[in-house]
Amino acid sequence: MGEALMGGVGPTPPSTDLFVADLLEDETALVTGGGTGIGKHIALAFADHGADVAIASRDMDHLEPVVEQIEDKGQRAIATSVNIRDRDQVDAMVDTVLDELGEITILVNNAGANFLSPAEDLSENGWRAVVGTILDGTAYCTFAVGEHMIENGGGSIITMGATNSERGAPYHAHSGAGKAGIKNLMQTVAAEWAEYGIRANTVAPGIIETDALSSVWDEAGRDREKISRDISVDRLGTPDDCVPLTLFLASNAAAYVTGGYFTVDGGQLVANAER
Ligand code: ADE
Repeated sequence: MGEALMGGVGPTPPSTDLFVADLLEDETALVTGGGTGIGKHIALAFADHGADVAIASRDMDHLEPVVEQIEDKGQRAIATSVNIRDRDQVDAMVDTVLDELGEITILVNNAGANFLSPAEDLSENGWRAVVGTILDGTAYCTFAVGEHMIENGGGSIITMGATNSERGAPYHAHSGAGKAGIKNLMQTVAAEWAEYGIRANTVAPGIIETDALSSVWDEAGRDREKISRDISVDRLGTPDDCVPLTLFLASNAAAYVTGGYFTVDGGQLVANAER
C-alpha cells in the first residue's frame, strides 16, 4: 500500500507537539526502567510537559544521564536503584521518591525483562527472572504506589504491556504470560480503585526497536524486513511511537479513561491486508 494512502498512520514517528507544555505541571511521575528505551523517552516527554520525574532501575549507570537531561529541562529528577522483584526494595524506592519529590501522581510500570527461548528449554531461573520482573515487579510497584495514591487523592497508573500477550508468543512463553497477567492486574485495580480517583490503563506496544531488542535480534539473526511485512503500517515501531498515548493517559485529559488496553503496534495484531 502506498504511503499516500496511509495518511496519518504513516511512516513517521509522532511528536508530542500537540500537547500543551504544562500538561503535567505539578505532577510527579515515577517511571520504572526509565533509563533506557521506551521508559527513557516517556520520562523525558513527561519532563518536557512539566512533570518532576523519578526514574528507577537496577542499573544506575543508565539513570544518571537521564536525570541530567530532565534537570536541563527545568524539572526536578532523581534516580533510584531498585530490583522490582523484591517488595522491600520497592517500598524503599517509593519512600525515597516521596521524601525527595513528594507525592507520586503518575506511575509508569515500564521495567521488564525478556530473552528468546523455546518454551521447553526455559529453566526455572529463566522463568522466574522474567515473570518475577514483569508480573511480580509490576504488582509490587502498583500496590506500593497505589497505597499512597489512595491516601492522597488519586493518580494515573500506566503499565506497559505487549501485544504478544494477546495471542501465542512463540519463544516468549515467560514474557507473554507475564504481560497477559499485568493486563488483568490493571483491569482489576482500575475497578477497585476508581473510587479513590486512581485510573489504571495498559499501553501495549508491538515490535518497538529499542537497543535491547536490536541486540537480541542481531544475535538471533532476525530479519527486520521480513518481520515488518506482518505489520500493517510496514515498519517497526520506535520508542517515540509509545509516548503520545502515554502522555495522554497520564494527563487529566484522560479523566474518564480507566481499565483500558491500548495497542501501539502499527496494526500488527489486526494483520497486514497485503499479505
Ligand atoms: N529492569 C530490568 N529488570 C529489572 C528489575 N528486576 N528491577 C528493576 N529494573 C529492572
